[in-house]
Amino acid sequence: MPDTYILGIESSCDETAAAVVRSGEQVISNVVFSQIATHRPYGGVVPELASREHLRAILPVVRTALAEAERSYETVDAIAVTRGPGLPGALLVGISFAKALAYALDKPLIAVNHLEGHIHAVLLEERQKGNRDVPFPLLALVVSGGHTHLYLAEQRGQSWTYQNIGHTRDDAAGEAFDKVAKLLGLGYPGGPVIDQLAPHGNPQAVRFTFAQIKHRDRQQRGAAPERPHFDFSFSGIKTAVLRYVETHHMQRVIDARRAVLAEIPKPTTEDVLRVSDPMTLDLVASFQNAVIGDLAEKTLAAARAYDAATLFVTGGVAANSELRRRFEEQAAQQGLPVFFPSRPLSTDNAAMIAAAAYPKFLSHDFAEPELSAEAGAQLR
Ligand code: KG4
Ligand code: ZN
Repeated sequence: MPDTYILGIESSCDETAAAVVRSGEQVISNVVFSQIATHRPYGGVVPELASREHLRAILPVVRTALAEAERSYETVDAIAVTRGPGLPGALLVGISFAKALAYALDKPLIAVNHLEGHIHAVLLEERQKGNRDVPFPLLALVVSGGHTHLYLAEQRGQSWTYQNIGHTRDDAAGEAFDKVAKLLGLGYPGGPVIDQLAPHGNPQAVRFTFAQIKHRDRQQRGAAPERPHFDFSFSGIKTAVLRYVETHHMQRVIDARRAVLAEIPKPTTEDVLRVSDPMTLDLVASFQNAVIGDLAEKTLAAARAYDAATLFVTGGVAANSELRRRFEEQAAQQGLPVFFPSRPLSTDNAAMIAAAAYPKFLSHDFAEPELSAEAGAQLR
């Protein structure tokens, strides 16, 4: 099989990204233009601004990815693009650009589900390291700003299928990090800030509990029993943090911190630490400890229930240091190999989109010319 070069394009949220990946196993170039600076003053992603920024960035980002890969438009074999899930306007920028390219160059267009991309980020890097033997069944926790999903992944020939066995009922885990950081005046995005601050606080200082989500018994009389679902819920902990702030009269300190940090264009961890009192640090450490504890407990229970042979943890929140430590420790106790993407491939990027497109390229699973954004795309 000759080498195949796929140009991947990703624009589902607040990163405009393009990458060239060889045969699903070697990152040749990987360019990510982050819009964090645009959205920081609002403490979250503003969809209209995201679309506008994608439109501005898409051409230079794609050109840079090709230049760094020393490829031309003519010497890539296919164009892959994220079809969803994500922000509709943001997705449309990448999709329109990819469709125009594929049409003008007469190259195949491949549509990729963003969550499948996060899973393939891990496979890509394992192959890059020479590890081609990932034992099945494979359980993947995709945990990011928009998603907290558990999938059982299977490969039959070139085609991959996914079964969802758990998801968040409300907020995604990364969304909880972002909202808690915002309400504590710690800035945006919240995940990396909380990751850096948490080691300075006591993770046992505040106790948070998670509701155990009960499932209706979906078993039909006479039918084979359904296997369990492992669902998450992260909106309650955000409310619990807010209540703690109110009952401990923290608002004045928070407002003062927010005002100081608003004056700094790109605050460093030291800047944030300087304006973080011990009570805030304890609260942050306890919050992170509780969220990670819940993610690890349910994911490892799911791995046992489905006899998973391998665990992948991927998506923006998988960049979290304490999360990696905890999953490694608990998976080892269970004798379960756990894999994470490198930090640059944990958060949104286009290398993962180009990698997930490779098996589709081999099986000629190309997108229809009418391809459009699918904001709520499901992974199956
Ligand atoms: O995968 P991603 O880049 O975008 C989505 O598909 O959502 O994930 C972004 C999310 C944000 O919520 C961000 O706060 C979180 O990932 N995140 C982290 C860390 N780095 C990014 N959460 C916890 N710890 C981190 N180190
Ligand atoms: Zn993502």
